[in-house]
Amino acid sequence: MKITPMVRNNICLNAHPEGCAREVGILADRAGTFYGVQSVSPHGLSRRPNHVLIIGCSAGYGLASRLVAGFGYHAATVGISFEREPSGNRTGTPGWYANRAFDTLSAQSGIQSVTFEVDAFSDNAKEQAIKAAKSQGGPYDLIVYSLASPVRTDPESGIMYRSAIKPIGSPYSGTTVDVFSGAMKEAQIQPADEEEIFQTVKVMGGEDWARWMDALESANSVAESAMTVAYSYIGPSLSWPLYRDGTIGRAKADLEAKSREIGHKYASAGLKAYVSINKAVVTRSSAVIPVIPLYVSTLFKVMKERNLHEDCLDQMMRLYTERLYIPDNVQVPLDDEGRIRLDDRELSQSVQDEVTSRMARIDDGNLRELADIDGFRQDFLRAHGFEVPGVDYEAEI
Ligand SMILES: NC(=O)c1ccc[n+]([C@@H]2O[C@H](COP(=O)([O-])OP(=O)(O)OC[C@H]3O[C@@H](n4cnc5c(N)ncnc54)[C@H](O)[C@@H]3O)[C@@H](O)[C@H]2O)c1
Repeated sequence: MKITPMVRNNICLNAHPEGCAREVGILADRAGTFYGVQSVSPHGLSRRPNHVLIIGCSAGYGLASRLVAGFGYHAATVGISFEREPSGNRTGTPGWYANRAFDTLSAQSGIQSVTFEVDAFSDNAKEQAIKAAKSQGGPYDLIVYSLASPVRTDPESGIMYRSAIKPIGSPYSGTTVDVFSGAMKEAQIQPADEEEIFQTVKVMGGEDWARWMDALESANSVAESAMTVAYSYIGPSLSWPLYRDGTIGRAKADLEAKSREIGHKYASAGLKAYVSINKAVVTRSSAVIPVIPLYVSTLFKVMKERNLHEDCLDQMMRLYTERLYIPDNVQVPLDDEGRIRLDDRELSQSVQDEVTSRMARIDDGNLRELADIDGFRQDFLRAHGFEVPGVDYEAEI
């Protein structure tokens, strides 16, 4: 069969097996080239990741974190992600193919890697990661928490919680765009009730991250002076009513609170827990947030014009080389609230002024001139294995 993208409302329902694998190969090559640069950099490699656990390893920021650790630093990696395997004429999730490509490429390069496709929120996932630490490479010196999920079953109560992307207090309206048809429309979202806020914090807050760290620490699976990092987003003020001040913002505030709790709890073991605020990128998760496609397309156009554009891999290279693995006598650079900031270029005054001015004038007639709709569409398709250079999409799969 030939596989073409099946997209509905900025959700892609299928994936191209070869395209997903090829995309991981392209990214691994980029990360590997960067290793060459690193080994001669003034920082050298005295501080480096050696054994890395990535929770949410198959896509977006988690996959990029794993690629930089594995192909950038030649660290052994253990990945956790939740995937659907292919069956009948239905393809698997993109991550199902990405995980296999990652493990195959790692083996070919002599880099240790193992991937568990399991619900990260379950106790079983924690047990598997603990066993893997024991059987290969010893305790983890870096634990990356990069989950984006619509649901979570709490293993203690068995209750399934559902996250919602909604404003709090009053309705939100903003302009959004379907990047496939180019149609702009107003999105109106009613505010969340208390139960929806509670459930979103349960899914996307820091409770599960803290459970992971407790499980790993009590099984001696965390190395002395290790680091753990979870990802968050702040974004421009126009998105705050929906994002930062909405349900997801409450969850991210909880994530930040948990990073402080984890850091205090395991300070005597030298553990450092960080939240890194990353820039907006196109991933399977971010594409479904209303208003984000229009903002991100405009942001991409402005940042590309100014040579400031970064994708997930660029961001993660910067996280490792300019934040986490810097000389021993230099502190990890943090903002006033103790967070790592990788959104500095996105949120710089001049970029934001230009994006805000464009978004105020954008309409159907000037959409492509002011915003990089095609760049958004292409990143989105590539995240599902489509439009990846070097793949013959006419070939039978
Ligand atoms: N995309 C952005 O623009 C952006 C910006 C800043 C921060 N972030 C943050 O980065 C983190 C990752 O987001 P992303 O955009 O890379 O998402 P993504 O959808 O690309 O990847 C999510 C990963 O989580 C895994 N996952 C989901 N549910 C799981 C489960 N139950 N068990 C195991 N694995 C599961 C998926 O398999 C996938 O590997 C999130 O915390 C997000 O808020 C994203």
